[in-house]
Amino acid sequence: MGAEQLKHGNRTDIFSKCDDYKLAEEYKAKGYYPYFHPLDENEGPVVSIEGRDMIMAGSNNYLGLTADSRVKEAAIRAVKKFGTSCSGSRYLTGTLSLHVELEEKLCDFFQKEAALIFSTGYLTGQGVISTLVQRNEYLIMDRDNHACLVVAAAVARSGLAKVERFRHNDMNHLEILLKNSGEESPKLIVSDGVFSVSGVICKLPEIVSLAKKYNARVLIDDAHAIGVIGKYGKGTASEFGLEKEVDMTIGTFSKSFASLGGFVVGEKRVIEYVKHNSPALIFSASPTASSIAAAIASLDIMKKEPELVTQLIKNAEFVRTNLKQLGFNLMDSRTAIVSVLIGDQEKTVIFWRKLFDAGIYVNAFIRPGVMPGQEMLRTSYMSTHKQEHLEKIVELFAKIGKELGVI
Ligand SMILES: Cc1ncc(COP(=O)(O)O)c(C=O)c1O
Repeated sequence: MGAEQLKHGNRTDIFSKCDDYKLAEEYKAKGYYPYFHPLDENEGPVVSIEGRDMIMAGSNNYLGLTADSRVKEAAIRAVKKFGTSCSGSRYLTGTLSLHVELEEKLCDFFQKEAALIFSTGYLTGQGVISTLVQRNEYLIMDRDNHACLVVAAAVARSGLAKVERFRHNDMNHLEILLKNSGEESPKLIVSDGVFSVSGVICKLPEIVSLAKKYNARVLIDDAHAIGVIGKYGKGTASEFGLEKEVDMTIGTFSKSFASLGGFVVGEKRVIEYVKHNSPALIFSASPTASSIAAAIASLDIMKKEPELVTQLIKNAEFVRTNLKQLGFNLMDSRTAIVSVLIGDQEKTVIFWRKLFDAGIYVNAFIRPGVMPGQEMLRTSYMSTHKQEHLEKIVELFAKIGKELGVI
């Protein structure tokens, strides 16, 4: 094919779809584009963007520990000792004594036999599940699970595993799928512990009892639950007192742990299997010393200062109660996340821009991230937000909500 034929509009060119994608450009031209705004400084609840201080109400830095001097110092010390990169995967040259120390601490915190650290939470979800669920085995998961679990399902399916998805938190549907999969077939039930868009908690007691009835294993992705719910922020299993009944928990260091990386905890024999068979672990460089040292410091703080978790929920609850009273539709949002349904794409980005101009940073969820009619502004809170930050957020939502006819 000649160069001329590969030009714009040629449907045989794999890249032609990129010329058709206009949405980002359109919103940039209108000044409503809500993504990829660089932060020049990050102090936790207050960040600097485009030369202005703004209240951050869209971060998953739930315990505010990214700005904690103990966490920062730990990261700096680790860089001095181990350098800036592991330059290899966990499997070969990329395991530091810090990785092993954190794995031991995670076992102790979650009271599980073994732990394994991956480079990100995404890779953990994708890597663990697609390694464990194989040909003719069943992966049965919630339809609203995080993207990394959806990708895990796609990888498992390509290995001829059978994938079924139940309606969000619908335990009758889960039971039907378990029943239909047949008594003999091995099964893994997978759910987010706290769902990332709404903050809703999964129905763990029902999941666990169905797993027992149909002889299935249970894996919970607690990315948004650790540091947020359960005793000392231990997550969903702890919230319901079901630590022994949940076979595996996966988590991320990118939220309450103020760092980067992911982990899984569970039975030793299972972790050993994943450790030696997961391409996501074996073929990806391990998380840096500074990331792991920051996560260790955050875990130590989490254990010593449970009041951080209490304050986090109190902060989110203050905003939730006030926005609800103002008449916003918060759907069924819970925990540290307060999502505000706007239900119209254009209005969502205009609302976002007005908040941005007034000094509040939130997340706009529009297509293709959500279905038409489900467009929303997702806000999330930190233990370190001050009362004045929360009041300002409520005040501006009220003002702009009225201006745009949302309330
Ligand atoms: C439920 C869930 N699982 C996994 C991840 C991925 O974690 P990470 O950002 O560490 O890759 C996220 C991140 O948003 C998440 O919400």
